Amino acid sequence: MPEEMNVDDLSAAEAAAELQRLAAILAEANRAYHTADAPLMDDASFDRLKRRNLAIETRFPHLKRPDSATDQIGAPISEGFSKVTHAKRMMSLGNAFGDDDIADFVKGVQKFLGLGADQPLEIVAEPKIDGLSLSLRYEGGRLLQAATRGDGEVGENVTANAFMIKDIPQCLENAPEILEIRGEVYMSHADFAALNQRQIASGDKPFANPRNAAAGSMRQLDATITRSRPLRFFAYGWGEVSTPLADSQFDAIKRMARLGFQTNPEMRLCRNTSELLQQYRRIEEQRATLDYDIDGVVYKVNDLGLQERLGFRSTTPRWAIAHKFPAEIAHTLLQDIEIQVGRTGALSPVARLKPVTVGGVVVSNATLHNEDYIAGRNSRGEVIREGRDFRIGDWVEVYRAGDVIPKLRDVDLTKRPADSKPFVFPETCPECGSDALREAGDSVRRCMGGLICPAQAVEKLKHFVSRAAFDIEGLGAKQIEAFYADDQLPIREPADIFTLATRDAVNISKLKNRDGWGEKSAKNLFAAIEERRNIPLARLIFALGIRHVGDSSAALLARHFGTWQAFEAGLTRAEIGQGAEWEDLLSIDGVGAVMATTLIRHFQQEASRASIDRLIRHLTIIPATNDGQANSPVSGLTVVFTGTLERLSRAEAKAGAEALGAKVAGSVSARTDIVVAGPGAGSKAKKAAELGIRTLDEQEWLDLIGRNA
Ligand code: IVH
Repeated sequence: MPEEMNVDDLSAAEAAAELQRLAAILAEANRAYHTADAPLMDDASFDRLKRRNLAIETRFPHLKRPDSATDQIGAPISEGFSKVTHAKRMMSLGNAFGDDDIADFVKGVQKFLGLGADQPLEIVAEPKIDGLSLSLRYEGGRLLQAATRGDGEVGENVTANAFMIKDIPQCLENAPEILEIRGEVYMSHADFAALNQRQIASGDKPFANPRNAAAGSMRQLDATITRSRPLRFFAYGWGEVSTPLADSQFDAIKRMARLGFQTNPEMRLCRNTSELLQQYRRIEEQRATLDYDIDGVVYKVNDLGLQERLGFRSTTPRWAIAHKFPAEIAHTLLQDIEIQVGRTGALSPVARLKPVTVGGVVVSNATLHNEDYIAGRNSRGEVIREGRDFRIGDWVEVYRAGDVIPKLRDVDLTKRPADSKPFVFPETCPECGSDALREAGDSVRRCMGGLICPAQAVEKLKHFVSRAAFDIEGLGAKQIEAFYADDQLPIREPADIFTLATRDAVNISKLKNRDGWGEKSAKNLFAAIEERRNIPLARLIFALGIRHVGDSSAALLARHFGTWQAFEAGLTRAEIGQGAEWEDLLSIDGVGAVMATTLIRHFQQEASRASIDRLIRHLTIIPATNDGQANSPVSGLTVVFTGTLERLSRAEAKAGAEALGAKVAGSVSARTDIVVAGPGAGSKAKKAAELGIRTLDEQEWLDLIGRNA
């Protein structure tokens, strides 16, 4: 593992910069991995980045970005297939790497369920297949529809292709009326080798690895091509079912096998952490002899009743985890170091490498974090890699751990050319020439050019149209770059997007003659822009791309202020560090002094404010409502749990309340709506009584939320 700044040591500003960097890297890698079927990095690097991202978000929840990889499962769906909304969301898995992570997982599950460490807890362990997930919907025993995961909610309809896979039964006997089977499509090593030989013989490009071959084969719009590709399928889970398959994970998988699905023969039932780890080592040893790729071992709580109680975090179940195999390493030449400029002006160094294969994927770029990392120091100035710096011309160690961006771990000084020179990090922006400065305590150097820096302007625009922001169909990163450089139809700031669409007829005729545009796509784009003139407040706030304001913070701000007018007035009047408006901002749970300061500066700085004002004229801003879980009886209420709860652990009680839209607070105040008091409740229950706050016992709470525990 390379030395990089410890998450616990990051300042808020460093954390925000790091989250921004991670979001960009993970998004690019994710897209390459899922959409282009050509990964940029191996699974271990990807997972490590995701883990770091999550660790930073856990420390700084208010800095979490809307485009955070934590909330993304897979990649945006590619065009061509019709879309399928999954009856039940297709979840991803949390990742673990070390034995300690597994012990923590087991303890966490026990704690959540209120079980003692010595109470039995059965967990199933099985190989994690490195393929692509598929959901198969059967009604009345017939295969009706097959869909890829897509973004977890909406996938691609690949039914015709699923019919071409031998392992997928088309008719089932004695199956529930509605049954969604989920599993992994993959290609065996032998079939992959034969396919690549055929590809080469016919002059086509060979696939990088079996996973890409499987994904590429499944995404064929022409199902006869899929038929010619030998795909296989392992079933390991389910979505909607009209009657449960069994009471346990293990028995449900056995039932699937009886229904005619291939299930993994290595699945085992374990009773504790040490049995899980034994099973992991056993599967790791077998890995080389298996005829298919696996990238780890998946552990799942066996009892389906317990799975139900454990439930889900935003995209991953609490009842399962993937124990991944370690990263692979390779050695190669560092040919160059390039500096990229991001949306907030951060200068990020990128290593250009002599292409090298790491874990089946060709790697030619790696992140270098920041100038201190290149120089052999962490951001507190402490020596890392025993002070060895990276220089152009060096022989370096690259590693990839997950699906994403590779990193440089170390350098081989014995191979360093005699005339090599330390890398000099630029002190001016390579894009606009403005000064690039480092604030005290910040490991990131930033371009001070603001809106005059084309790199920042383009990145800001890309952010503006991104999925969690304006999400304008037909206007993605590629189109933004083209419009930015276009003198006739320029988009240089957000307002330009809407003026472009205002001069409709003229501009459509101009646009339709451009590369990649026709009359229809031009009209579609303008219609998509039109549609976005009505924009929810939270999306607008997020889209402004203010440093430290991610989508969850934007949602908090929107909910707090309700309308654009209130938000704008608050920020226009606010003074940094004092006064009622400042206090009001800080009263929002999740908004701290750093975010409040950047918000106020953004609104009070002339250029950024003028750009916002030009934009707002084009928009109808939809006020924020508390739409979360509007139908729940506790939605929007603040609840305090106190005393001993007997049926629920604290964590379970909190997660359950939050899932229903309630806010869980630690102390009782006039703002508390409900106090749930178990035996032994002391001062909090007393205070609730004094304030006349509704107080329930555990059973009454369970009745209120409709749970008959
Ligand atoms: S269970 C809610 N079991 O890994 C749990 N997933 O990293 C859903 N995968 O999306 C997944 N082998 O595509 C599960 N034995 C296995 C798996 C497996 C491979 C894939 C699957 C999932 C991804 C998560």
